Amino acid sequence: MRRVLVTGGGTGIGRAIAHAFADAGDAVTITGRRSDMLEDASAGRSIIWQTADVTKEPEVEALFDAPYDVVIANAGGGSSGKVLKTSLASWEKTLSVNLTGTFLTFRAALNTMGAGGRLIAIASTAALKGNASVPAYSAAKHGVVGLVRSIALDVAKSGITCNAICPGFTDTALADEAISGLMKRFDMNRAEATTMVASGNPQARLIDPSEVAATALFLASKQAAAINGHALSMSGGEI
Ligand SMILES: NC(=O)c1ccc[n+]([C@@H]2O[C@H](COP(=O)([O-])OP(=O)(O)OC[C@H]3O[C@@H](n4cnc5c(N)ncnc54)[C@H](OP(=O)(O)O)[C@@H]3O)[C@@H](O)[C@H]2O)c1
Repeated sequence: MRRVLVTGGGTGIGRAIAHAFADAGDAVTITGRRSDMLEDASAGRSIIWQTADVTKEPEVEALFDAPYDVVIANAGGGSSGKVLKTSLASWEKTLSVNLTGTFLTFRAALNTMGAGGRLIAIASTAALKGNASVPAYSAAKHGVVGLVRSIALDVAKSGITCNAICPGFTDTALADEAISGLMKRFDMNRAEATTMVASGNPQARLIDPSEVAATALFLASKQAAAINGHALSMSGGEI
């Protein structure tokens, strides 16, 4: 049975990933800061939860008491605001959770990970192209892809792979924040704002978290051993 760790596993994409791996028979641990969310996500499945803030080195190190076979750095987020409206505090907070959090998680994982191990980062389409509304988030996610490509080269001969999944807008609380923001800003109803958010995807829809989970399952499989250092766009053709 593989040991799988999912950061930010209490909600949204991380929760869907945790459920998919647990349903496939893996031993899953989820982390995040809110214990109520972690408890709820683990209910009814053999999922262990442990609170940890991915921006805090000792808390991340403490997660790795034993080796994991699959580690998914999913914790992330960020607020919107063009570059002139971005404070240093907001910039640092966004880089901290998305980029430093992924670095701390993968570094701790690699200390004990054996051959066949899998590192997967949940980046974003904002990792592959600029976005004027979320410069800090886009910079942080571009950084995640740079980190993934660098680690991939470092571990290539060890049988470990390191990849990123780059979803477009996905139907979670994070997308809901963007929808609520548009409703306020343009005095729209929810359906109109959702259509506007989905219009960035050529398929005119939000991605379902289960689609990201299925891709993570594939990247973690033996059949995906040759896929290393890849940033896989899941965006209906947006990029
Ligand atoms: N939804 C989208 O449209 C979309 C698109 C592309 C990429 N993504 C990426 O997908 C990932 C998951 O996002 P989501 O859409 O599922 O949104 P979400 O439901 O808000 O999930 C974010 C998760 O990250 C955790 N988290 C945030 N800060 C943390 C910290 N400092 N330490 C530990 N955990 C932390 C949160 O848990 P706590 O608050 O309890 O800590 C939460 O479970 C993120 O990296 C996001 O950037 C999302």
